Amino acid sequence: MSNTFYAPGEQRAAKVNNLFAAIARRYDLLNDLQSFGLHRLWKRRVVLLAGSKSADRALDLCCGTGDIAIAIAQRGAETTGLDFSEKMLEVAATRQRHLKTQNSNLKFIQGDAQQIPFPDNSFDIVTVGYGLRNLTSWERGLDEMFRVARPGARLIVLDFGKPPNPLWRKIYFTHLKCSVPLIGLLFCGNASAYAYILESLKHYPAQLAVAEKMRALKLANVRVINLLGGAMAINYGEKPE
Ligand SMILES: C[S@@+](CC[C@H](N)C(=O)[O-])C[C@H]1O[C@@H](n2cnc3c(N)ncnc32)[C@H](O)[C@@H]1O
Repeated sequence: MSNTFYAPGEQRAAKVNNLFAAIARRYDLLNDLQSFGLHRLWKRRVVLLAGSKSADRALDLCCGTGDIAIAIAQRGAETTGLDFSEKMLEVAATRQRHLKTQNSNLKFIQGDAQQIPFPDNSFDIVTVGYGLRNLTSWERGLDEMFRVARPGARLIVLDFGKPPNPLWRKIYFTHLKCSVPLIGLLFCGNASAYAYILESLKHYPAQLAVAEKMRALKLANVRVINLLGGAMAINYGEKPE
């Protein structure tokens, strides 16, 4: 059955934007519920891999409510979070206002991850958390990450993955099909927005194809870090010097 928030091709972005406008206020709570809080650990792993220093410039694409961008900025890097959803950015800005530490090195901007509004070779770190899967073209998103990365920059992608073990994959996809939309319905009044996760994952080739594309871009030290048996994955690569 097709999903209200999924459409291939040109209509995709508008539908995805509608989805995040609908769930923005409850997004953080639902993330905690559906992942049993584990998304915090996975994002911390991304931030550690980013290895930011205060002299670094970092870009977090599809930043949503700002988890990764805020954590990188707190380590001192000059950080920009970019997202196309006004509602998600409103939540990010509210969180930023409530941060105890000084955060003048963090800004959020509205923009399209497939047409990043920065020149080539601008950033030492380019991250994207649960974003690539939502783009009309994830390949285009990765090309753009590569373009704005400086030589030597770290490119890091965190997203839902496809577990290599068929039994585990079946159990996990059943969780995405049944429990996650139920949590969406109970706590956000929107089952369809959460059923979208599985629908979008079916159309996304996940960690292995992302690694292949990173190699095609001639990134160095390309790595796939499978989390929870590949249910989640981090792709890592460095732009050659
Ligand atoms: C699942 S959320 C991830 C938010 C955050 N990175 C996190 O890990 O919690 C996906 C985000 O991608 C954004 N997004 C989707 N397509 C986009 C695009 N083409 N350009 C910019 N942002 C986009 C959505 O608005 C949404 O905030």
